[in-house]
Amino acid sequence: MSSDASRKPSRLPNPPDNRSDPLFEEEQLYIAPGAQSIALNSRLVVDHGKGVRLTDVDGREFLDFFSGVTVGSLGHSHPKYVAALTQQLQKVTFGSFTTVPRLRFLKGLAEAAPGDLRRAHLYSGGSEAVEAAMRLAKAYTKKFEFIGFWGGFHGKTGGVLGLVGDDFKHQRGPLAPGYYSVPYANCYRCPFQASHPECSFLCVEFLRKFIRHNTSGCIAGILVEPIQGTAGNVVPPPGFLKALQEVAREAEALLITDEIITGFGRTGKMFCVEHEGIVPDIMTLGKGMGGGFPVSGLISTDEIVAAKPFSMPSASSSSYGGNPLAAAACLVTLETILEEKLVENSHTVGAWMLDQLREIETRYPFVGDVRGKGLMIGVELVRDKKTKEPLSSRASKAVFQLALKEGMILMITNSVIRVNPALILTQEEGTLGLEKLKKIFDVLERDKLYQE
Ligand SMILES: Cc1ncc(COP(=O)(O)O)c(C=O)c1O
Repeated sequence: MSSDASRKPSRLPNPPDNRSDPLFEEEQLYIAPGAQSIALNSRLVVDHGKGVRLTDVDGREFLDFFSGVTVGSLGHSHPKYVAALTQQLQKVTFGSFTTVPRLRFLKGLAEAAPGDLRRAHLYSGGSEAVEAAMRLAKAYTKKFEFIGFWGGFHGKTGGVLGLVGDDFKHQRGPLAPGYYSVPYANCYRCPFQASHPECSFLCVEFLRKFIRHNTSGCIAGILVEPIQGTAGNVVPPPGFLKALQEVAREAEALLITDEIITGFGRTGKMFCVEHEGIVPDIMTLGKGMGGGFPVSGLISTDEIVAAKPFSMPSASSSSYGGNPLAAAACLVTLETILEEKLVENSHTVGAWMLDQLREIETRYPFVGDVRGKGLMIGVELVRDKKTKEPLSSRASKAVFQLALKEGMILMITNSVIRVNPALILTQEEGTLGLEKLKKIFDVLERDKLYQE
């Protein structure tokens, strides 16, 4: 396929009385560059959403398989969510005092969390929660080094940047000292060219040796995503987290699992660590927890959260963390997840979609890998199944634009389609999404776009 300009993936065509384009362009005059690529590439000007559908100001409807990068666990404008937040808005919205919704949420969270994780703090953004978890680990262990993983993502602020496991760090230094990254159990792209289970987790053995040879032996925490989201919904084989927990114990460090994406039913269990039956020392929370409200948090044990200086008054608080609106959003989200059995729905509809996608994988020469748990599915696209060379960014953009034209919002990072719809997705809506995906893949194959 030539890179002939006429073949260039075109943008979503403008509707006759196009309102979107002028509004988008006008905003670009005021918004600083650097906004999320999906917003910039789609140029969508959204008007409203309902369930798993978003409608723009021109009345075009899109099936939303992106969910604001998994924040929208209940979908758009869930009636219970709208009612709870409306009611809270009319009562009180800010301040750090106890509210009944916050009490009820914290109790519910303690019941839902695994093992003896029962004491939580609430924050506003994911990286803020991860930084707080790291401060807590330092306070408890009195140590200061951290290990993260290649492909790991924990936010963009200075305190976590050193543990972001890709080239996002480049030109953003200096990084905090004592932060290290080691290979994740990404078996499709194993850096050791090994295969599981024959490798007996070579990556974990490497981590052990790495701690011995590369650190000063003062590891406060090992920070890991149970499934790597930003890297492309990468699912490690069973046993990986358990093995990491053993390494953490040997190093007298805490295991911090970052469940900001994977938590609250996303993977078909309330928390992803439950698939492995492990209880981490600290878990970070966010995104789907608030159903779209900017709220995050951490949860740990009575013993760990008592560590000073973390536990001293005002030492772990923030202006907005757990404010009345945030707490109301968390409470209604958790209650709705439980009442409407959305964890079970994520498991069932997700498993069904995974099966369908595995069947699709065999039909196209550019679907390299399909993996996932619950409604967190990765479809990795390649130029060639044998060499596993990733799809070019140009071809990935073409997939994204084709999806928009089909009326679907698909997130694609590192040539991986990240299927992350709201947990309310029905099998019918899943079928519709898969039909759209097949149409896109047919064009990709017909026009050999995947070889661009
Ligand atoms: C696993 C994980 N941790 C932390 C973060 C950072 O969250 P935020 O963007 O809210 O700072 C993200 C964001 O995508 C994430 O995926």
